Parts: sequence; structure tokens; C-alpha cells
Amino acid sequence: MRKNVVVIAAAGVLMLGLSAVAGAADPKGEFVGSEKCKACHSVEYKSWKDSWHSKMVQPKKTGILKEVVEKWATDGTEEGPTTGNVTKAKFKLEDVKYVVGSRWKQRFLVANDQTGGMQFLNRQYNRYTNKWEKYGNANDWSTNCGTCHTTGYRILEYDEKFGKHGRTVKDSYSEMGVGCESCHGPGNKHIKSKKADKKKTIFNPANTDIQAQSKVCGYCHIRIENEKFMTAQGNPREDLPAPKIGDSYKAGDDWTKWYPEQAIIPGVHADQPASKEYVGDLKGLFKLDDHAKANGIFEEAKHHQQYQGFLQSKHYLNGSISCITCHSPHAGKGKLQKVRKDACAKCHDASYTVEKYMPNTGQTAGNLFMRTHTFGKNPRKGGAGAGDMGPPNYYE
Ligand code: HEC
Ligand code: HEC
Ligand code: HEC
Ligand code: HEC
Ligand code: HEC
Ligand code: HEC
Repeated sequence: MRKNVVVIAAAGVLMLGLSAVAGAADPKGEFVGSEKCKACHSVEYKSWKDSWHSKMVQPKKTGILKEVVEKWATDGTEEGPTTGNVTKAKFKLEDVKYVVGSRWKQRFLVANDQTGGMQFLNRQYNRYTNKWEKYGNANDWSTNCGTCHTTGYRILEYDEKFGKHGRTVKDSYSEMGVGCESCHGPGNKHIKSKKADKKKTIFNPANTDIQAQSKVCGYCHIRIENEKFMTAQGNPREDLPAPKIGDSYKAGDDWTKWYPEQAIIPGVHADQPASKEYVGDLKGLFKLDDHAKANGIFEEAKHHQQYQGFLQSKHYLNGSISCITCHSPHAGKGKLQKVRKDACAKCHDASYTVEKYMPNTGQTAGNLFMRTHTFGKNPRKGGAGAGDMGPPNYYE
């Protein structure tokens, strides 16, 4: 409710201040974009291109699902998207500019003429059930999801005087989706350097200590609430922009130390344990039932919380394993990445299986769950998994 109230009160002011920054290049020239890496790293480029990271946010033309177009009016039961969540204006399929997601679910971006930014439509498409579901997020998308779904994100202008904690007025990013520089940091110096300096000028997660490796992935594979930086509509952001206006997160930065008084990062800060119930958007983040309490393991109840699950595991605590021990963002060699089949057998006996020890606990959409990364020794029974839904059927 609180969100709606803020939005209505804000509408007049937003018209004046905000300007659009869709796809604006990096004003500092640090981030060069994934296309620039292709010439010298064609193998890594190909494996990235085939991964979901590269497909996170796509222009409507290349990214919209075939079923979505076919069922736009209705899926037979539920009607499709009709209305912008912030402005409540009516929109048609032709008005969609970008799609967010294509593997488990898809959401739709249209213009917000009050701010010059983009807002979401009021339905998301669930690829597992093949049905429309309600979707209510009423914020300009880049100001709520930006650091995790774009590369080189930064806030350029912030109005401290707006509402309780201000609002994001102007922002930018170097590219849509999770590009090379999300995990390797800005590439400007690297592409210009002489051969002898190439290694020194770029970040490789494999070269950092084992717990810091997971932190590179944890920047996005996490759920937080940000009370330092608010969205364009003045609501708490769900991501972690760099503390200084104008700066952007660089892979390798220790984001867990950023504005600790105002960032709620359950399971990461000692005074914000996974065993606690949170409020607002963080409500129901972890399993807190008797099974969880008896084992002292609080499994992820939503998606993109793998880092918060993993921090509870012996794998992490013993410093024996990181995310990239099991997942290589480049392993596919031209195919969609899979965790190596021998991921457990390398270190455990055959009774240690993914099915048993990584039950599906984290819900991402109706009937759609993802595997826990807590690796508890007394795992619960999991819900239905997404399984392999097959490659997405793009319209074009
Ligand atoms: C002009 C060619 C060129 C371009 C363009 C280029 N690189 Fe490199 N890159 C190199 C060379 C050469 C090396 C060093 C290889 C070696 O010594 O093993 C390297 C090494 C790397 C490494 C490994 C570093 C390490 O310490 O292990 C990464 C990661 C990397 N590049 C990422 C990128 C990214 C991301 C981009 C785009 C922003 C990019 N490169 C663009 C030539 C290039
Ligand atoms: C999701 C994070 C992520 C993204 C996105 C990503 N990388 Fe990497 N990259 C890694 C990790 C982690 C490693 C360390 C080796 C491994 O685990 O595969 C790595 C290793 C590399 C290396 C060194 C390879 C070697 O054999 O030592 C190069 C070069 C590289 N990446 C280039 C790129 C380029 C170019 C892109 C974009 C086209 C890209 N990466 C996108 C995470 C990423
Ligand atoms: C900038 C944010 C960001 C970073 C950093 C990041 N991810 Fe992701 N990751 C995402 C998003 C967003 C998706 C969902 C993409 C989709 O489904 O369209 C995703 C999907 C995935 C997937 C499932 C899809 C696939 O292609 O296999 C795996 C596994 C994964 N990430 C592992 C990692 C690992 C390991 C790292 C660290 C080396 C990492 N990610 C770093 C944002 C990020
Ligand atoms: C803190 C980082 C973060 C924030 C903030 C975030 N996401 Fe994500 N999102 C992810 C990651 C990581 C995934 C991949 C799924 C996973 O890891 O469980 C994902 C997955 C998704 C997917 C499913 C992708 C697919 O291919 O099915 C959609 C859709 C999505 N996010 C939309 C949003 C929207 C809309 C917002 C803002 C309201 C948002 N996300 C905010 C990190 C984030
Ligand atoms: C011990 C090995 C291991 C480690 C460590 C690990 N994962 Fe996983 N992860 C898996 C397995 C196995 C799956 C299930 C893959 C499947 O069902 O196809 C998985 C699934 C995922 C998925 C869902 C994608 C999918 O294809 O269903 C994401 C996202 C992910 N992991 C991210 C991470 C991140 C981020 C970290 C570090 C915080 C991490 N993982 C650490 C083994 C691991
Ligand atoms: C690189 C080696 C390595 C890999 C790969 C690995 N593990 Fe582990 N695992 C360990 C170590 C080391 C421990 C900690 C043992 C200890 O301290 O008691 C551990 C602990 C565990 C535990 C906790 C046991 C307990 O007593 O709390 C579970 C469950 C587990 N692993 C499951 C898995 C599964 C499932 C996979 C595959 C997806 C996997 N592991 C992959 C090395 C590995």
C-alpha cells in the first residue's frame, strides 16, 4: 500500500525532474561493452553469448517469446498485460520496448512518460505453467533492478530532499543484461594496454581468494533492501548501487561493506541473520519452520538468493569451494552452461547427489522452484523443480 501512496503523491514532481537514460553510454568511459571483447576472446564471447547472462534484458524484437505474442490477449483463463504499473495508462503489445527474462518467466517494459524512464506492465508470463500471472512492481525499472540486470550501472543524480530518503533522478548503464564487465570490471584500460600489461588491467574472479570469488556472484545472486538509495518513485531499491553518486560497482569491490546502516543484507551482516523474519519485500526470505530451526539451516524461500544460502554451508565456511568451483560462466564451449555432472563425485561418495542435497526450496513464480545452496546434511524434501523447460521459443 505504502508504495501506491508515494507514487500518486510523486507524479507531478517526477514530470519535471527526470530524464531518460535508456542505454546511455558510460559517462566516464570506463566500461566499453561486451562487443569490444569479442575480437580477442572469441571463445569466451561465444560461451557468454549462449548463456542466460547475455539474454537477461533484450529488445522486444529479439527477445519476446512466441507464446507471449500468441497469448497476449488471454491465456484462456487470465487476461494478458494491459496497464503500466506506475502510470496506470493502457498499453498494447506494440508499445513494449524491452523484455526482462525468458527462461523461467518474462516481464515487459514500456515507457513511463511521467519520468522518461521505463515501467513494467501488470502481468508476467510463466513459462512453466504457460499462464499469465499478476505482477505489481510500480517503480521505474532501472532504479529498482538496475545493478543486477544491467552492466556498469551508476546513479548520476539523486534528490535527497524527496520523501523520506530521496529518490533516484538520473542514472545510466553501459549495456543491458549481464555483460563481460559485470564479472571482470571495466575494460577500457585493458583493451588499450600493451600486451605485457593485459593481465594487470582486468579482473579475473579466478585470481582472488576463494570466499571473494563467491562475492563476485553474490553481488547479484542475493536479495537485499536498500534504504540509502530509493527508486524514482521514492521506494527502497532492491539493488546496491555504488555509495558515491557517479561511481559504479566494479567486480572485486567489497559491496558487503557499503552503507551498512542502510543496507539490509540478511545472512551477510552478523546482526541480520538468516534465522530472523524480515518485513516488507524481504518477508518470507528464508525457511523458518521446525525443520530449519532443528538443523540451524535456513534455506532460500525465493529465487536469486544463492549467495545467502551458500554462506550457511560448510563449503563456504571451510573455504573449500566457491560458486565458480561448480559453475563456470564459460564452460559451455558453445552450449548453454550446465553444472558439471561430476560436481559432487569429485569430492564425495555416490550418495551425495544434487537431487538429495539441493532440494528445490526457492520459489521464482507459480509452481516454479530453484535449488537451495545451503548444503545441509539433513536436507528437506523439495518442491517441484523447473527441470529442463527446453530452450525458449523466441517469436523471431
Ligand atoms: C586487443 C585484444 C584484447 C581485447 C579487445 C580484450 N582483451 Fe582481454 N586479454 C587480452 C590478452 C592478450 C590477455 C592476456 C592473455 C594471457 O596473457 O594469457 C587478456 C586477458 C584477459 C583476461 C584474463 C586475465 C587474467 O589475469 O587471467 C580476462 C578476464 C580478459 N582478458 C577479459 C577481457 C574483457 C572482459 C574484455 C572486454 C572488455 C577484453 N578482455 C578485451 C587481449 C584482449
Ligand atoms: C557471470 C560472470 C562472468 C561473465 C558475465 C563473463 N565472465 Fe569471463 N570469467 C568469469 C570467471 C568466473 C572466470 C574464471 C574461469 C572460470 O571459472 O571459467 C572467467 C574467465 C575469463 C577469461 C580467462 C580465461 C582463461 O582461460 O583463463 C577470459 C579471457 C574471460 N573470462 C573473458 C570474458 C569475456 C570476453 C566475457 C564476455 C563476452 C566474459 N568473460 C563474461 C566470469 C564471467
Ligand atoms: C550483474 C549481476 C550478476 C552477476 C555478477 C552474476 N550473475 Fe549469474 N545471473 C544473473 C542474472 C540476472 C541471471 C538470470 C539470467 C536469465 O535467466 O535471463 C543469472 C543466471 C545465472 C545462472 C543460471 C543461468 C545460466 O546461464 O547458467 C547461473 C548458474 C549463474 N547466474 C551463476 C553465476 C555465477 C557463478 C556468477 C559469478 C561468477 C554470476 N552468476 C554472476 C546475474 C548475475
Ligand atoms: C540483487 C540483484 C537482483 C535484483 C535487484 C533484481 N534481480 Fe532479477 N534476477 C536476479 C538474478 C541473479 C536472477 C537469476 C535467477 C536466480 O539466480 O535465482 C534473476 C532473475 C530474474 C528474472 C527471471 C529470468 C528468466 O530468464 O526467467 C526476471 C524476470 C527478473 N529477475 C526480473 C527482475 C525485476 C523486474 C527486478 C526489479 C524489480 C529484479 N529482477 C531485480 C537478480 C536480481
Ligand atoms: C557444490 C557445487 C555448487 C556450488 C558451490 C554452487 N552451485 Fe549453483 N548449482 C549447483 C547445482 C548442481 C545446481 C542445479 C543445476 C540443475 O538443476 O541443472 C545449481 C543451480 C544454480 C542456479 C540455478 C540455475 C539453474 O541452471 O537451474 C544458480 C543461479 C546458481 N546455482 C548460482 C550459484 C551461485 C551464485 C553460487 C555461489 C554463491 C553457486 N551457485 C554455488 C551447484 C553448485
Ligand atoms: C571440491 C570438493 C567438493 C565438491 C565438488 C563438493 N563438495 Fe560437498 N563438501 C566438501 C567439503 C570439504 C565439505 C566439508 C566437510 C566437513 O567439513 O565436514 C563438504 C560438505 C558437504 C555437505 C555437508 C555435510 C555436513 O556434514 O554438514 C554436503 C551436504 C555436501 N558437501 C554436498 C555436496 C553436493 C550435493 C555437492 C555437489 C553438488 C558437493 N557437496 C560438492 C567438498 C566438496
